[in-house]
Amino acid sequence: MKMGIPKEIKNGEFRVALTPNRVTELVNSGHQIYVEKSAGLGSGFSDSMYEAAGAVVLERAIDIWNVDLVVKVKEPLPQEYQFLRPQLGLFTYLHLAGEPELANVLLKENVRAIAYETVALPDRSLPLLAPMSQIAGRVAMLFAAHFLQKNCMGEFAGRGKLLGGISGIEQGRVIIIGGGNVGRHAAQVALGLGAEVVIFDQYESCLMSLDKAFHGALRTKLYRPEQLKKLLPTCDVLIGAVLVAGEHAPALMSREMIASMQPGSLFVDVAIDQGGMSETSRVTSYDQPTYIEEGVIHCCLPNLPASVAQSSTEALGFATFPYIKALADKGLDIAIEECSALMSGVNTWDGILKHEGVAKALLRN
Ligand SMILES: NC(=O)c1ccc[n+]([C@@H]2O[C@H](COP(=O)([O-])OP(=O)(O)OC[C@H]3O[C@@H](n4cnc5c(N)ncnc54)[C@H](O)[C@@H]3O)[C@@H](O)[C@H]2O)c1
Repeated sequence: MKMGIPKEIKNGEFRVALTPNRVTELVNSGHQIYVEKSAGLGSGFSDSMYEAAGAVVLERAIDIWNVDLVVKVKEPLPQEYQFLRPQLGLFTYLHLAGEPELANVLLKENVRAIAYETVALPDRSLPLLAPMSQIAGRVAMLFAAHFLQKNCMGEFAGRGKLLGGISGIEQGRVIIIGGGNVGRHAAQVALGLGAEVVIFDQYESCLMSLDKAFHGALRTKLYRPEQLKKLLPTCDVLIGAVLVAGEHAPALMSREMIASMQPGSLFVDVAIDQGGMSETSRVTSYDQPTYIEEGVIHCCLPNLPASVAQSSTEALGFATFPYIKALADKGLDIAIEECSALMSGVNTWDGILKHEGVAKALLRN
């Protein structure tokens, strides 16, 4: 199979879909791999490393897309829509719930698009979203601790609160909504910084597993709007970490709730890639990662793992490679037919919207 690895062009994106050692494995299995010039540089992989691995490095993006399967990290951007064509295989994060325009283009161009984030195992876990969520949770807390400081963002000044406090000086309070991969890893970093942590989730089983894992170091609460509303005026950092696979993020935060938070407190809406969980959330970029609404600093980066591209590229490849190899070795049709996880990853196929959650989200738009 001919496979293309484009250079990611989203703002602040430095990840790459395949590392040179994975390329070698695919080349040894008889596949032809085309890598766009400089695609791996941001993750520490030079063009000569890809060439040594057996890939052909090409200058022009258009040539990279002229293959059977394009493997990427982030969704195609409008500049890349011109490369989409019928029966092109595309394996990448898509997050179509937050990208209705892209969904229409993929359908119109009859692209066979498989989204990493909806590849689901029989226990409904999401093996290709999980590693990036774990990293995003950690990075979200590091960003929050940074932006809470004065002098970090010019006019966007944080409260000037040290999350861990010191002896006799109160620590900061972090509220996390959603106790899955993002939530857990954000909690781990927040606790490491010495903050007080409260996690809300809709499922008791999730809260029980958090209590067990953290040995009572954080507080867990069943999600109830009244409970959350009581705590919001006391928190320094709010992390949005909810997900219903494929669907638009549940809208749990109203403008009024955001306004009840302290001026200069931080809201990191990690769920922004699925449309965001607050009325006040809108996508930001690394050029301007924050904005203020109702006195609260909002950070809504849809690609938090990009800031630690080297770790993220390794972690992503570790998770995606078995699926990439199956798609390459068997061809898209057979690989998908034989693997229910890949089947649930199919979002669009020859003009048909295939994922129920995504379809629901798009109807909402
Ligand atoms: N911004 C980024 O860079 C980035 C990176 C990775 C993941 N994400 C996003 O972060 C979000 C969370 O991902 P995850 O992997 O942690 O998901 P997950 O499935 O592991 O966890 C989500 C949690 O949200 C809870 N939840 C869902 N609806 C709820 C509700 N109405 N009330 C209370 N709790 C609710 C679920 O019970 C679950 O425990 C997703 O939108 C994901 O796409 C963003």
